[in-house]
Amino acid sequence: MKIAFVGKGGSGKTTLSSLTAAHLAAHGHPLLVVDADINQHLATALGASDAEARGLPALGDHLPLIKDHLRGSNPRIADAAAMIKTTPPGRGSRLVRIVEDNPVYDACVRSIGGVRLAVTGPFGEDDLGVACYHSKVGAVELLLNHMVDGEGEYMVVDMTAGADSFASGLFTRFDVTFVVCEPTLRSVGVFRQYVEHARGFGVNVVAVGNKVRDLDDVAFLQAQLGDDLLTWLSHSDHVRAGERGDVRPVAHLEEANLAALETLRWTADAAEKDWSTYQRQAVEFHVRNAASWGNDRTGRDLTAQVDPGFVMGPAALAGV
Ligand SMILES: Nc1ncnc2c1ncn2[C@@H]1O[C@H](COP(=O)(O)OP(=O)(O)OP(=O)(O)O)[C@@H](O)[C@H]1O
Ligand SMILES: [Mg+2]
Repeated sequence: MKIAFVGKGGSGKTTLSSLTAAHLAAHGHPLLVVDADINQHLATALGASDAEARGLPALGDHLPLIKDHLRGSNPRIADAAAMIKTTPPGRGSRLVRIVEDNPVYDACVRSIGGVRLAVTGPFGEDDLGVACYHSKVGAVELLLNHMVDGEGEYMVVDMTAGADSFASGLFTRFDVTFVVCEPTLRSVGVFRQYVEHARGFGVNVVAVGNKVRDLDDVAFLQAQLGDDLLTWLSHSDHVRAGERGDVRPVAHLEEANLAALETLRWTADAAEKDWSTYQRQAVEFHVRNAASWGNDRTGRDLTAQVDPGFVMGPAALAGV
């Protein structure tokens, strides 16, 4: 299952991504975690030292490798330079699984605190907005578009909720999107904006409260979010200890917060996968991006990359 954490700056995206990742890893689930947030703090939240975090390879530095791997022998994609972030898989493309041996994972995935992590690398000016040919987040979108994940396997992405994910199809790539909400009007406002944009595309969006301190906070979130509020985590001493460099095993998290993580997992598990919609939306956003900047940038007609005969999903994996 593909899981995104988004939300207002500072709401707790990275904290909830890391707790969820650690929780899934502790249960032995196949897992790939990606830090695609502007502020790259996920490695540290998982227990990496600053030096370790700085030393991590970045997806953004391996775009040619990623593109070359994923395009495989797809005859519609002549070379890596013709591949933009929205280029969808087709017959001949290499699909990837959550856990497997491949050169992309060799180059970009490292284990931090028992969690397999890839990071986009810090964003530059190039990385935000529609026309980001070299976009680091583009690497994540490409991986998601080529990812065939099964039941009980998870990809967790710590993401910015900004315009970048709406400019491409990135926000439609997840089985569930958790919008982290502090009990504040601004945080709830970010949830509403996200929903307004995303639900029109059939995106499964729910709110997860965070940093809840008392019953007033709970009442506020319930009143503001109604049925959209899935669960919440309280302001946590366990998390604060992590902030002091004392990252403890997730099993030691407060009981109610652990139960909230379980709710997140069940919610992801309950999401219905619809591979044909997944591919159709990838194609839609590709055609749109090709017209708005991709064709100009590459000097080719990128809509020719769409393979109408390709069926995405586990069966395609077997075929490849
Ligand atoms: N449940 C919690 N209990 C205590 N502190 C928390 C909790 N959740 C988050 N925090 C703290 O709040 C701060 C912001 O959290 P975090 O970095 O996860 O947010 P973010 O949404 O990823 O922020 P950014 O927008 O900067 O990426 C951190 O200091 C974190 O330790
Ligand atoms: Mg963050």
